[in-house]
Amino acid sequence: MTSRVIPVSPFVLVVFGATGDLARRKLLPAMFHRDAAGQLPEAATIIGAARAHLDDAGFIAQARAALIEHVPAGERDEAVLARFLARLRYVAVDATGEAGWGELAALVAQAAERVSVFYLATGPALFGPICERLARFGLNGPLARVVVEKPVGKDGASARAVNEAIGAAFPEERVYRIDHYLGKETVQNLMALRFANGLFEPLWNAAHIDHVQITVAESIGCEGRAGYYDTAGALRDMVQNHMLQLLCLVAMEPPARLDADEVRDEKLKILRALKPVGAQEWVRGQYRAGASAGGPVKGYLEELGSEESATETFVALKAGVETWRWAGVPFYLRTGKRLAERVSEIVVSFRPIPHSAFAPSAGPIAANRLVIRLQPDEGVKLFIMIKDPGPGGMRLREVPLDMSFSAAFNARNPDAYERLVLDVVRGNQTLFMRRDEVEAAWAWIDPILDAWSAQAEPPKPYTAGTWGPSAAIALIERDGRTWVDGAP
Ligand code: BG6
Repeated sequence: MTSRVIPVSPFVLVVFGATGDLARRKLLPAMFHRDAAGQLPEAATIIGAARAHLDDAGFIAQARAALIEHVPAGERDEAVLARFLARLRYVAVDATGEAGWGELAALVAQAAERVSVFYLATGPALFGPICERLARFGLNGPLARVVVEKPVGKDGASARAVNEAIGAAFPEERVYRIDHYLGKETVQNLMALRFANGLFEPLWNAAHIDHVQITVAESIGCEGRAGYYDTAGALRDMVQNHMLQLLCLVAMEPPARLDADEVRDEKLKILRALKPVGAQEWVRGQYRAGASAGGPVKGYLEELGSEESATETFVALKAGVETWRWAGVPFYLRTGKRLAERVSEIVVSFRPIPHSAFAPSAGPIAANRLVIRLQPDEGVKLFIMIKDPGPGGMRLREVPLDMSFSAAFNARNPDAYERLVLDVVRGNQTLFMRRDEVEAAWAWIDPILDAWSAQAEPPKPYTAGTWGPSAAIALIERDGRTWVDGAP
């Protein structure tokens, strides 16, 4: 099947933080790919806004370098590159002062009839000041939308303050809180799997599911972001947003329609039904020097250049959803940096069969598992028991019914940001977090943060290149279950 390219209306995209890491690594490449696919109308303009004193040519040179670094050579057609770079403008703007705002307003006004998207690829401390100025300079009209990156705040109270400040300038239906996991192809597929197939829904409950594991393991370290990361840690950086969103998509009730508020209402019910996490139900860790991708790597503290930090680079949690559907079903969450490999997957483990008719010589009977692999090698595997082929009596074996998306569809898998930025232009909020969702997620996270800050014990060390501290293994093994590590 080929992908479909639906052109969007003319727009102007203003990227605050345009010289930063996110713009270079994700936003500019995403827009380039959409241009290459023929999805950007001629009158689509991208304005970079940042503190640095650059002119258009200086910004274009930086953007070209970023695209050369982050778009594979085979996908970088010179004519498309020239067309894309010609869309770029730059304004030096002081997010907390007055400089540059008049110029920015004049530039956006040239495109007055177009949708304008203000993408705040900055820290959350700047969301309020930028939104206040957007309003003051008349840039928050009916065709204007604001996009904010996570983290929205660093706890419930600061998230509410940030949301208030954004809300003073933009109504909720024009605020787009990005969680890029929601734009990933396989995350979207989770909804297709659950709601476009009759097979799973009757089994999707506590009567048939034993537990769920959600792993987002990274092999990278802090990649030059240790300054930010040290103020966040894995709980705020990954669990409060990406992992809870994945949990919601697994656990939510089928929405009546796949529209923004129906989907978000259902996710919100799950967030509000999360059981508070007990003291024995979490493990936090921090990596020490070790090996990754075949080479030696530094420990977190060395990367940070500090002798001391209680920031966790790993967290494992046992969560629960207190609803009729999920009563008593544990959701084990685990994420960390510098783990043994890069793999994100959701494992739904069904209950074991109630009685075996087979002789012990047939071997053990594993409970069925549905594994939804988000990355790498996106796909879905359903593990079932079969008879080992050939003579030799009845011997049982576990095999996957294997659906690898890359093998099945010869299509390029677009980056999440490609879909999400164009969804903003289209005005589709389905894959963005609503204010109440973000605040409900913090309400569950805050007590864990409080417990950690009241605790003298530092995060448990683990060697880079392993699956985290041994306490994380104990967390699940205490319940008679095991983590499904790496590729099964
Ligand atoms: C970001 C986190 O939101 O997600 C990073 O801030 C993390 O720390 C990244 O590395 C992971 O995203 P992906 O798409 O590479 O799984």
